[in-house]
Amino acid sequence: MTVPFVDLAALVRPSKAEYLAAFERMLDSGGFVGGPAVASFEAAFASHCGAPHAIAVCTGTDALVLALRALGVGGGDEVITAANSFFATAEAISHAGAIPVLADVDDHTLLLDPADAARRITRRTRAIIPVHLFGQIADMAPIRALAAANRMHVLEDAAQAHGATRTGPGGEPWRAGSIAQVAAFSFYPTKNLGALGEGGAITTRDGELAERVRRLRDHGQAGRHDHVDIGYNARLDALQCACLSISLARLDAGNAARRQLAARYREQLAGVPGVRLVAEPAGSSPVYHLMVVRVAAGRRDAVRDSLGKAGIATAIHYPRPIHLQAAYAHLGQGPGSCPVSERAANEMISLPMFPDLTAAQVDRVVDALRAALA
Ligand SMILES: Cc1ncc(COP(=O)(O)O)c(C=O)c1O
Repeated sequence: MTVPFVDLAALVRPSKAEYLAAFERMLDSGGFVGGPAVASFEAAFASHCGAPHAIAVCTGTDALVLALRALGVGGGDEVITAANSFFATAEAISHAGAIPVLADVDDHTLLLDPADAARRITRRTRAIIPVHLFGQIADMAPIRALAAANRMHVLEDAAQAHGATRTGPGGEPWRAGSIAQVAAFSFYPTKNLGALGEGGAITTRDGELAERVRRLRDHGQAGRHDHVDIGYNARLDALQCACLSISLARLDAGNAARRQLAARYREQLAGVPGVRLVAEPAGSSPVYHLMVVRVAAGRRDAVRDSLGKAGIATAIHYPRPIHLQAAYAHLGQGPGSCPVSERAANEMISLPMFPDLTAAQVDRVVDALRAALA
């Protein structure tokens, strides 16, 4: 039995007829950009996130850039984010004209460590981007407190966390995309909510901020040929929005399947010597975009090799922390500046995880992992 890392064809298969019908409607209507398909997806996605506004854009990276620009962050401002994230989180900060400051992650959750972030605040810090990594909401209570005390904006990088929830300090149900001032999502095809191509969105409860994002997405236009900002062409196609509305109807079921599969992995791996699980704090309900485990750094590559030989595909998210990427050498955050991220980068393995994975496949992965570590 081989086990793929993800199976996108299986994911879209049940809705194939609906996607084709949407394509046909689009061809007949001739409305390829903007229009009702975009507006109706935005309304449905905003409602799913519990945020009043959603603005669809080309990619998750654009969503981060536009959110930062709309917040007025740029011009040499410093923005703190997690060293263990996809490169785009920091790249977006640079594209907005600001300077990324990489902070370390918590050793148990691998999410942005608020205490380490606090140590990196300077007079120039304007914003903080907690990343809801692997589908788990970051430690938002201390991050929000830190932001309030230091007059920083908070932007959630929710690219991996559509539908994730976590109980707030007062028992309130927090939902990815509506915990901070503004949030950025990616609809890259492998994400929990994936487009049939590229896509992204910004959610916010701030109506003025939503308007600024809408303008920036469309060449900074306040009205036709009235350019009040230097913006972008970051509009998401009507066809992608129509397809995303179809996929959104399946998101909760997909997340429920991922949670069940993760529970099976976690239960079976809990007793396996040499395997460390990512902690799930009380009140956190991750959507398991990725199923990441840790093994001893010296054994990681051999373990992946052995799983590969057994027909099991794995990946690493992420093999090199952002501050150690060549593109950010100029920041001067060399080895040792984020030790937890650096250690985890050598220990993490992402195991197969997608809604159509079967219980038998999970058991097969667990058996193979156990054998590799024996
Ligand atoms: C945490 C994180 N942030 C940002 C992005 C960027 O999203 P996109 O690939 O849609 O530009 C991704 C996507 O891979 C991501 O995982």
